Amino acid sequence: MTDLAGALGAAVAAAFDACGLGPEFGRVSVSDRPDLADFQCNGALAAAKAARRNPREIAAAVAERLASEPLLAAVEIAGPGFINLKVSADALADRANAIAADPRAGAERVAAPRRVMVDYGGPNVAKELHVGHLRSSIIGEALKRIYRFRGDEVVGDAHFGDWGFQMGLLIIAASDEDPRWRAIAEETLPATHEGQAQADAALADLRLEVLERLYPMAAARAKEDQDYRDRARRATAGLQAGRPGYLRLWRHFTSVTRVALERDFHTLGIDFDLWKGESDVQPLIEPMVEDLRQKGLLEPDQGAMIVRVARQGDKRELPPLLVVSSEGSAMYGTTDVATILDRRAFNPDLVLYCVDQRQADHFEQVFRAALMAGYVAEGVLEHVGFGTMNGTDGKPFKTRAGGVLKLRDLIDMVMEKARERLHEAGLGADLPAEAFEETARKVAVAALKFADLQNFRGTSYIFDLDRFSSFEGKTGPYLLYQAVRIKSLLRKAAEEGAGVGEILVGEPAERDLALLLDGFDHAAFEAYDKKAPNFIAEHAYRLAQTFSRFYAACPVLAAPDAATRGSRLALAAATLRQLEAALGLLGIETPERM
Ligand code: ARG
Repeated sequence: MTDLAGALGAAVAAAFDACGLGPEFGRVSVSDRPDLADFQCNGALAAAKAARRNPREIAAAVAERLASEPLLAAVEIAGPGFINLKVSADALADRANAIAADPRAGAERVAAPRRVMVDYGGPNVAKELHVGHLRSSIIGEALKRIYRFRGDEVVGDAHFGDWGFQMGLLIIAASDEDPRWRAIAEETLPATHEGQAQADAALADLRLEVLERLYPMAAARAKEDQDYRDRARRATAGLQAGRPGYLRLWRHFTSVTRVALERDFHTLGIDFDLWKGESDVQPLIEPMVEDLRQKGLLEPDQGAMIVRVARQGDKRELPPLLVVSSEGSAMYGTTDVATILDRRAFNPDLVLYCVDQRQADHFEQVFRAALMAGYVAEGVLEHVGFGTMNGTDGKPFKTRAGGVLKLRDLIDMVMEKARERLHEAGLGADLPAEAFEETARKVAVAALKFADLQNFRGTSYIFDLDRFSSFEGKTGPYLLYQAVRIKSLLRKAAEEGAGVGEILVGEPAERDLALLLDGFDHAAFEAYDKKAPNFIAEHAYRLAQTFSRFYAACPVLAAPDAATRGSRLALAAATLRQLEAALGLLGIETPERM
């Protein structure tokens, strides 16, 4: 099932061909001037250039060939030789009926599915989440869903930051905080059942709140206190060397953090397939460094080991990748190269790194090093960067207290706002408490995600919860409201025993809606091709708006006759399915009522 632009493109290509011109000139796209036409073809201009002929003449010849085309109601030539196309009501109705019957709401699958890995989220143990992580999670989740929807085999990995210096810091901070935790670290508890039970009880008290208190304290102290920093380094080295007591504490830190993160992410409709950690690839690092050395890629540099990745013709000099620091530790980038090796088991055709644009150089260094070492083929690794979510001061968003944002606090804040908005709008008032909360959660998620995804990812935007959570304007809650309105219309129809029928396209508002339904496939294609969920967001918004105009102009339950009523109900049902599919790709769920 192709969309109308595709079907018309084939007809127009055949017309060009019949005129002795290349069929490649027949490409059709949605009209820039919806007041004049539905679709347009600009190929006559290019064809005229190639054949050194007058573009209007060519357009006229092609238009003549199209006169009997059943898909078209009108063909007109405009300006220097644009071919404007108006679809026939029958063709539009056929397409709308096909979309209505399609569980995929009219969107195609890719012809050649790929194996795709999405590296997103990237939360860290103990270190708090910041806006970069939030955007990464929202955008990465959407990309994962869009790719999967298009038919690729997709795996999303959180690439958990569970290794490195911050672990050493936590180990000494916990040891200093409570002698029982020190006993675990230093393995001074008896190796008996009782000793085990004591350790378990002590760890049960080492909760996330404690980690969240200890880490910033320890990080700040390490900045000033050389001895403290050295202790933390030794602890990090001890952990890396596999000291059982340190490992025990570390495992506890990671699991406590992960449980909380998974729960919070899940609240936001973000679920990772894999939680592989940076720690998982540590065993690969030593042999990898050796391999880099043997390949002649490793160079000593002021006591450290680096790989030079600059290329001739680079616009500015890319610094080398730091592989081993002068203190002998593997770095962030080293772990990323090792992760590329690890991921070879999945045999990916594409790996998308959905990470803050500020890490662009880092990924360029890592990708080049991996390429030079022959660990991956050209074109497999791609950094999908994005701008920042800023506060009203134009700087990356911080909490009112000036601190970094905790995911839990953000959720609480957005939830509170969603409840307030629902109350204000008199929505959800008759829902039982639990259902109201679930609706508020969906409104909150929609507000947060849609505000992010409606922008092209490269753009930075200002966090404005009041605006994001409004039921009016280009917002997530507005879209949910429209979806719920259709649901209640369909429920009412069912109560009245009115069923869907065949879609007939008559009124201008029906025409507009059918045309917009046709556009979903293209929006999904663009979002996939450009790794840009904003194409889906834009489509969803226009669909909701167009439906709203249709609903105002065309009575549904009070339609003049049963056939018209059945047609309009079918249009409404198809709109709902497509709207929910589009929102689903953005990671936004719609409530049943509100
Ligand atoms: N944990 C990292 C950070 O907080 C993000 C990880 C991004 N993914 C990657 N493969 N490096 O900055």
